[in-house]
Amino acid sequence: MANSAPPPGTADIFPEEARRWQWIEQTAASVFGRYHYGELRTPIFEYTEVFQRGLGNETEVVQKEMYTFHDRGGRSLTLRPEGTAGVMRALLNTDVLNGVEQRVFYHGPMFRGERPAAGRRRQFHQIGVENVGRVAPELDAECIAMLMHFLEEIGITGAELRINTRGVMADRAPAAELLRTYFASHLDAMCPDCRVRYERNLWRILDCKQETCRQVVAQAPDYLACFSADSRAYFDRVLEALEALGIAYRIDRELVRGLDYYVHTVFEITHPGLGAQNAVAGGGRYELFLPDQTKPVQGVGFAAGVERLMMVQDALGVKLPIAPLAPICLISLGERARLANLKLAGQLRRAGLPVVLEVENKSLKSQMRTANRVGAAFAVIRGDEELARNAAVVKPMTGEQEQQECPINELPGRLAALWNARNKTEF
Ligand code: HAM
Repeated sequence: MANSAPPPGTADIFPEEARRWQWIEQTAASVFGRYHYGELRTPIFEYTEVFQRGLGNETEVVQKEMYTFHDRGGRSLTLRPEGTAGVMRALLNTDVLNGVEQRVFYHGPMFRGERPAAGRRRQFHQIGVENVGRVAPELDAECIAMLMHFLEEIGITGAELRINTRGVMADRAPAAELLRTYFASHLDAMCPDCRVRYERNLWRILDCKQETCRQVVAQAPDYLACFSADSRAYFDRVLEALEALGIAYRIDRELVRGLDYYVHTVFEITHPGLGAQNAVAGGGRYELFLPDQTKPVQGVGFAAGVERLMMVQDALGVKLPIAPLAPICLISLGERARLANLKLAGQLRRAGLPVVLEVENKSLKSQMRTANRVGAAFAVIRGDEELARNAAVVKPMTGEQEQQECPINELPGRLAALWNARNKTEF
């Protein structure tokens, strides 16, 4: 390979950083578990049709951003650009179609061919949840509450919740008509993208970021008046439940979300730690007609972008609550000691201790340098003399404690006690 960089919009995650990923993923599993959600792992690629039907053919993601390829059997497959459509496909094999509620969460890589920028990648990672099979405003509110709870447990404060309703499909036609008539007389002032949206994806004009379009949108008539009384009542009940939960929100009529499957509640979480446009998480209630089904299935869920969560954590100075495990470094003076230490390393690791040992013949000085470099808590030193006495020298690498000799048969127990005591006092 000519260069060592990964492809544009992707990144390597090294062990030091991966610890933070593990913490975020484990916290998500722990919080979602308390709401009775279980993990679902779906494939990273699906039949292309799953996304075309699921997200809507006119959406930007399907039109411009999917990584689609043909396999050797001529099937059209796509690397998943998001998690919801694949989860819904998988849940078809459960009794969700009979109205039995399913609560699942997922995490993993997603792929969108977007122009890379700060917080925008081509391979990014989402943590998401889906509650499928039942329709109730309280479920929408609980889903949002769970997201806020998760953010809280990973140290993210100061996030803003914006919320809106998209009504049901039947509400949209009269509302779209109202907007179409209004936008028709302002097309000249709108950006080229919005002129295309006017024909193909009218609602997306509402969240265009261009200043001229924003001015037009600001004067648009309130389309909510076209929604049915039932749809408006549904939204009011979501807001009422959020108030009961003590969750602050801002209603934003321009929030429509980029995927076509949404009905009723839509929401996004933004944070001043990111650029103004960048959402940390987004979601809502959706309705999907799955292949071979005549009845749509509804669900409510969200996905948070892990890279963006980390950007917010960085802006807030959030530190990992757990330090890396300081290892025990086995130092061998001579060939026989090295072989004996190879065996000892296995015993100590089985006793739960992290162990590093030098496998080549190196001087004491060089091995002590390694112990310092890896941040060892203790060095355990053995040469021919210690072997003859069936013992080893245990040397604390930090603090005031003196080194001491320990019989080999007592070593795993003694080291475990010392190591645990050190971890309790240092962290
Ligand atoms: P989304 O808004 O497209 O929704 O994505 C959710 C989150 O993924 C965004 O808020 C953002 O944090 C992150 N994200 C999206 N694209 C990128 C990118 N190119 N680079 C970095 N991060 C990105 C969905 O995907 C829906 N499936 C959410 C959902 C679940 N709705 C209902 N259930």
